[in-house]
Amino acid sequence: MTSPLNDPKLEALLDRLHAQSDTQVEETEDYFSRRIREGTLDFEKPYDKDLHLFLSNKIVALDRDKGEFCYQLCRSIGATRIVEAGTSFGVSTMYLAAAVRDNQVEKGVVIGTEHESSKVKIALQNFEEAGLSEFIDLREGDLRQTLKEISGPVDFMLVDIWDVALPALELVSSTLRPGAIVVTDNTTAAADAYRGYFEFVNDPKNRFRTMTIPFRGGLELTVRT
Ligand SMILES: C[S@@+](CC[C@H](N)C(=O)[O-])C[C@H]1O[C@@H](n2cnc3c(N)ncnc32)[C@H](O)[C@@H]1O
Repeated sequence: MTSPLNDPKLEALLDRLHAQSDTQVEETEDYFSRRIREGTLDFEKPYDKDLHLFLSNKIVALDRDKGEFCYQLCRSIGATRIVEAGTSFGVSTMYLAAAVRDNQVEKGVVIGTEHESSKVKIALQNFEEAGLSEFIDLREGDLRQTLKEISGPVDFMLVDIWDVALPALELVSSTLRPGAIVVTDNTTAAADAYRGYFEFVNDPKNRFRTMTIPFRGGLELTVRT
């Protein structure tokens, strides 16, 4: 399958990380099935300690086709300022940073954020290896703090963390320019967890139009009007 990235070094790194992430998928699905069976998981509440601990070393990377889709969107709209909620090992960040690089703007940036220090360390190494560090401002900490200061206009946002998706969008919303795109992962699979998020998106005063694209688990494509 061809990739729109056209960057063998980056593609080799992404191949490795996607393969690593794939090996964790079964374990993650088993974990969620067990917690659902036991009735101990409330998707409308923030992560509990056990879930937090389980996910702390998991990549849970955006699927490759979704990453490539985001790359294409960012190229298409000439994105120069991008915000990402949930960076992990930086897989999705690198698709976005490659788009900023390829858009050949002078001061393009992807603002990423991740609260697990061990993941931040690995993400920074990955950015270095891909030669993309200069396009990424990775903010370590809870996104409810790290995304407080964003200077706009923001062209594109990726939301890849459901339990704090709403605060992330609320913080970035005022900086999104007309026509800006927000892509949100797993909105069908985790519909209960996204309930409050969709109330915000569908409230006319927040000026969004949205539709679900049928990628695995549902991928929401939301546009600022
Ligand atoms: C689904 S993963 C992101 C995957 C990443 N976008 C990729 O494609 O590789 C979500 C990440 O958000 C992080 N996270 C969860 N809650 C957070 C919070 N409140 N602030 C910052 N990061 C958070 C998790 O540690 C996890 O690494």
